[in-house]
Amino acid sequence: MPCKVVVGGFFGDEGKGKIIAYLARRDKPSIAVRGGVGPNAGHTFTFEGKSYKVRMLPSAVLNSTTRLLVGPGVLINPEILLDEIEMFNSHDRTFIDSQCGIIEKVHIEKDTAEDHLKHRIGTTGTGTGPANADRALRILRLAKDIPKLLLYIENVSDSVNYSLDNKENIIIEGTQGTFLSLFHGGYPYVTSRDVCASSICSDVGIGPKRVDEVIVVFKAYVTRVGGGPLQNEIGNDEANRLGWAEFGSVTGRQRRASPFNMDLAKKAISLNSATHLAITKLDVVFPESAGVREFTKLQKGPRKFIENIEAETGVKVTLIGTGVDVDDVIDRRKA
Ligand code: IMP
Ligand code: MG
Repeated sequence: MPCKVVVGGFFGDEGKGKIIAYLARRDKPSIAVRGGVGPNAGHTFTFEGKSYKVRMLPSAVLNSTTRLLVGPGVLINPEILLDEIEMFNSHDRTFIDSQCGIIEKVHIEKDTAEDHLKHRIGTTGTGTGPANADRALRILRLAKDIPKLLLYIENVSDSVNYSLDNKENIIIEGTQGTFLSLFHGGYPYVTSRDVCASSICSDVGIGPKRVDEVIVVFKAYVTRVGGGPLQNEIGNDEANRLGWAEFGSVTGRQRRASPFNMDLAKKAISLNSATHLAITKLDVVFPESAGVREFTKLQKGPRKFIENIEAETGVKVTLIGTGVDVDDVIDRRKA
């Protein structure tokens, strides 16, 4: 399928990075383009024993033939972007839109100093909320105003639409998760923008008719960082005991945890018009599934878990994460 958009179905940290890294290696898209908020996201993936984290570049970076684009809806922290370009040596295949908003020191200071943001909402402190506020006020600087970024600028929506006209294979990467959406999440415990699939497409400059697949990624349990309600939340001790304890890749905070939430999943599927689902970390909930790469080799418990999600939601689970490595995936797309 030529154009897929990948978004998170819960509160971020569903494992989108790993799923996208897998798809990139497998499908070798000509373009991966990032939508979403900005460097408040942290996408991690492990390949051949080495762990990588990206906050600005698309998670498809592992496939060296993929051009890495950042859409105009995304906020850029120039230092973080340039560091990642350096780290992955992707100078000649990274491009950002001239209209990406720029996060400056003042935005980070506001995000980490204001009691409301830091303590009530529990933001990531990366400056994204204050920068988006300035963008709404139309005083934010854009990528085209920053000399050290000029080398990387191109018209991202033109590139993406042109490649789609040529039937190339493209991945559009969302960040955060459906219930952190400014419009559809539990306001005020949300991020500073909508992050559902339609917005992610708008971030990169394509219209709704251009998307062939919408993959909504869920983790086999739910986590959230920062404030806001989490139904059936378990305590940190219980999370440690179950092996569900996670720590934020941007902030280092321990993530709050709860079991898989079918009602949230159904709502996320409808908000994003999911065509397929991905379920990650199946091995964390069902250790017997660790490293399994074929659906028929799954034992009864984990298989029932997946089949129940399909029966309840009516959407097929085509990708299942069963371990930390990028290739620890059951890929049922051809089944
Ligand atoms: P902000 O996006 O930094 O303004 O934070 C607003 C809320 O969204 C806080 O609860 C953050 O913890 C949460 N959040 C933002 N980005 C992510 C993410 O990538 N993963 C998980 N939570 C996030
Ligand atoms: Mg994350």
